[in-house]
Amino acid sequence: MGRRSGGRGVPIPLKRKPPLSQNPTPQTSRLPVVSHMELDENPHEALRRWRAAAPAIERDDGVCIVLRADGVEDLLFDPRTRQLDGATYAAIRGIPQGALHDLLSTSMLLSNAPHHKPRRAPMSRMMSTRAVEAMRPLIRSLAESLIDGFEDEEQVELVSRFAAPLPPLVISHVLGAPAKDAPEFSRWVYQVSPAFSAASSAQDIPLMIEGAENLTRYAQELLDRAPSAAEGGAGLSGLLASLFVGELSQAEAKAQLATVILGGSDTTRTAIASVVALTLANGCPWNDFASDPELTAAAVSEALRFDPPVGSVPRFSLEDIVLDGFIIPAGRMVSLSTLSALRDPDRFADPNRFDIHRADQPRWPIAFGGGVHRCLGEALARAELEECLMALSRRFPTMRLMGPAPRLRGYSGIRGVDELRVAW
Ligand code: HEM
Repeated sequence: MGRRSGGRGVPIPLKRKPPLSQNPTPQTSRLPVVSHMELDENPHEALRRWRAAAPAIERDDGVCIVLRADGVEDLLFDPRTRQLDGATYAAIRGIPQGALHDLLSTSMLLSNAPHHKPRRAPMSRMMSTRAVEAMRPLIRSLAESLIDGFEDEEQVELVSRFAAPLPPLVISHVLGAPAKDAPEFSRWVYQVSPAFSAASSAQDIPLMIEGAENLTRYAQELLDRAPSAAEGGAGLSGLLASLFVGELSQAEAKAQLATVILGGSDTTRTAIASVVALTLANGCPWNDFASDPELTAAAVSEALRFDPPVGSVPRFSLEDIVLDGFIIPAGRMVSLSTLSALRDPDRFADPNRFDIHRADQPRWPIAFGGGVHRCLGEALARAELEECLMALSRRFPTMRLMGPAPRLRGYSGIRGVDELRVAW
């Protein structure tokens, strides 16, 4: 979720530090400086070239981008880096006091110890693998209901008709919210979500504020409405209220609900479109997905590796960090490029080949981050992606792409996809 998308808006220059070359020690080298434009133009190719030359690069706005798998994996857990804290981030972005400022400064995503753990724990328990497995029939029926009627059309644009509406519908069920609310809160999500991206334009701040006001008010209403388990509240909404009792302030509780709504929307939308496009474009046994859950799960894992919907996670360097003889100085925004690391030939055999049978998928793929901020929606996201692929394959065994597979936009933060046209 952390973002500095190359795909959206105008990059905001972060505070410049003196060039690294002013102070290199004899043993360390400065990072090569690379322009945002070069990276944005053809991300996989630019990252491949630079990854071979150096473990990290310095973007022209001073952000240090870590490229190799070992560096990215290590720094996700390294105490010399930490998450940028929300209040500092809001100040850098010039966000005035109010709903958006409160959301950024209390969200688990932009929290560090000691606040992060209590903010994350209640939602994390709700998103356990067991809880998510119990939701599969529901996710399946939501996916089926969205594709009902497609048969009558010659072709369909799948992003707007399927990939975008599904995640908010699923989240509304997770949170015990009425399904009819999903289109409205997903509109607020898309207004506020760029606020988490340093790449978004300052001009959009009023819209982000409006989205944050509506989304957090809605989260508060959900909390107010949820009957507590002690009062006999049934199902997830009862669980929701009981999880938050006594653990967090109301302001913190509503910010975590809003964060989960935000975290599970555009990431999963991009991922659904991407897995469908990649499997269709790469000659995968599309028909088999209908009846083979293991093959489907493997296809989902490979799509998340081959073109991760979150291209990087942001951190902040607390000390100088030396990687393979190159120095990342203290006090920098650091972008851990999952996009680059997941194509590192030192980690994956033939990394530029889309291969759903590959044997080198890691147990904890960094497509979902790592360390204490590792995605808490991974199980839910995987269940959604697998059920979507199976439902489409069942209903449309002859589905094919209309034209080339769409390219995901951007190289860091949440990446986007505009449209995906299919026929059968
Ligand atoms: C394919 C879909 C998804 C991808 C690729 C993805 C990726 C990520 C990544 C890389 C992070 C780490 C961010 C960081 O360290 O700064 C993250 C965090 C997070 N994700 Fe996801 N995510 C996905 C789906 C979801 C879903 C479905 C939900 C919830 C319903 C969700 C909720 C969150 C939350 C709340 C965090 C913050 C966790 C924390 O700060 O402790 N994500 N996600």
